[in-house]
This record gives sequence, C-alpha cells and structure tokens, in this order.
Amino acid sequence: MRPGLLTFKVHRPLEIPLPESCLATVIGESLGRCDTVATLASLLTEPISAVHIFRREALPPEQGPDPVLEELRSAVCALRLPMDSQSPWIADVIVGEHGEPLMVGRHRKGLPAHPCPGALPELTLPAHAPSRAWLKMRQSLAWLELGEAELKGRSALELGSAPGGASLALLEMGMQVIGVDSAAMHPQLLSHPQFTHLRQSAGAVGPKDLPMRVDLLCCDMNLHPGVSLRYCRKLCRLLQPRWIIFTLKINDDAVASEMEDWLDSLRSWAPSEVHARTLPANRREITVVSSMADL
Ligand SMILES: C[S@@+](CC[C@H](N)C(=O)[O-])C[C@H]1O[C@@H](n2cnc3c(N)ncnc32)[C@H](O)[C@@H]1O
Repeated sequence: MRPGLLTFKVHRPLEIPLPESCLATVIGESLGRCDTVATLASLLTEPISAVHIFRREALPPEQGPDPVLEELRSAVCALRLPMDSQSPWIADVIVGEHGEPLMVGRHRKGLPAHPCPGALPELTLPAHAPSRAWLKMRQSLAWLELGEAELKGRSALELGSAPGGASLALLEMGMQVIGVDSAAMHPQLLSHPQFTHLRQSAGAVGPKDLPMRVDLLCCDMNLHPGVSLRYCRKLCRLLQPRWIIFTLKINDDAVASEMEDWLDSLRSWAPSEVHARTLPANRREITVVSSMADL
C-alpha cells in the first residue's frame, strides 16, 4: 500500500503463525493506526515483551542514528504499556513520512523474526570496510544473535568473499576465516593473520583445501541459486557447519518466482530449520540462515 509496506485483508480468523515470505523483512499482524504514540496503549490488548519502532523505508545506515526514531523511543518509554518479559509478542510501530499515521502491529519473537527493530541493528558501515557486505553480514549475525561471545575462536568459510566486507566482519568477531573467490581480496584481508584466501572457484574447492569442519558456512556468490546451492550442499555435507548464512541472488524474475522451490531444496539438506528474509542491506537478493541452536 506504500513503499516498503504491504497489507492484506483477511476475511476469516487470522492464521497463526502467519505465512512467511522470503521477500519480506518483518511480517506481522496489523493492530491499527495511531496519530501519536500516546494512543499506542489503546491498540495493545495483550501484553508485549518489547516495542520495535522502525521506518517503513529504512534510511541509509551511513546517516547514523535517526533523531525521529530516537524521539519516538523516548516517548514510548514514558508510556504505561502492558509489558511482560514472558510475552511471546513484540509490538511493531512503523514510521512513514511526516504526517502519516503510525502503523501498529505485532509479531512473535524468536526465529524466523529478526530480534532488531525492522531487522536493523544500529550499525554504521565503517569507512575501512572493503564492501557493503560488511553490513549484510552484521545484520545476518544479529539475526542469529551471534556476537563475539559465540564466535570468538570459531571458524568460518565464505564462498564469494572478494573484496572482503563480510569476511572482515567475521574476523572482527575473532573468527578464523577462509575466503574462496577467484577475484582479488582487499589487502587488509590478505594481511590479516586469521584470514586465508583460496583464490579459486568454489566448485573446485575440496577436502584437501579445507579443515575437517567449520562452524559457519557463508555464501555470497553472484551466481544462479541452483549453482551456488549445489556448491553449498557439497561443502555443507563435508564440513557439517553449526550455522549457515547464504545470500541467494535474484538475478531475474524467473529466479524470484522459483525462490520458494530453491528454499525447499535447501531445506532438504540444511543442518537445521531454514529461515529466509530480505534484510535491509539486501538489494536483489535474499538472506537465508540456519542454526543448529534451534534443535
Ligand atoms: C557480491 S560479491 C561478494 C562480496 C563479498 N562477500 C564481500 O564481502 O565483499 C560476489 C563474489 O562472488 C564471486 N564468485 C562468483 N562466482 C564464484 C565461484 N564460482 N566461486 C567463488 N566465487 C565466485 C565473485 O568473484 C564476487 O567476488
């Protein structure tokens, strides 16, 4: 109905859990609209454990903290809302253009939802990052709630690692990273003691080049999902990762319409439940994650 927001009318009791879509960033049940946050409480008939306030169209992360959202967050803190840390519900307050009513909804916490408002951890792309994939990786790690405490000392393999933004984000978490790409890596990656570059195609990488296991398998190759998933499947079987983070490219409309089929094929061999969403840093691609911690 507005850029970044799609609503559907349902003429029967709402099906819970709501249907998923890999093309959505946040999926929730609409509770109504309000002109100011002061009337938010009247829309919340059940307790919530948190309020997520985010823009209908995310601002570029380069702009840093968003004063409009900051002001709304302070106003919400001052309200008496039905808060209960045990509640499975998170309220969503979606902010549009100036003068547009706030759209209020709710979603269930936990995977497949992202834990940050609008799936957007408050991060600014550092000037030294070799590519925007740094942001994409940080948004994906935040989705799996993985930080330095979980990742330090663990290993990662990234297929399609050049020039190196995503691998840098993993190195900054204290991981050992192997990057596979026939293109050149940025010099700051090549000089990093925890980084190894395999300058070859992912299709040519085999057991002789790799450790027995890796903790995290990542894929960011600009290939058709059918090809990248074939490589990922082989390496997933070999390396038995605990976590996977893949971006699947939507190079044309045919790929977009087949995406659910590609996800079903991925679900048949992934180590655990697979979740797919479009994160704010994704362009014509989706992000897919899977975590053994789900078991
Ligand atoms: C979107 S870029 C990756 C960005 C990177 N993840 C980063 O953090 O900067 C896609 C990469 O996939 C690589 N690629 C394409 N086909 C590949 C293949 N068969 N094996 C390995 N890498 C491949 C390209 O060389 C390109 O560097």
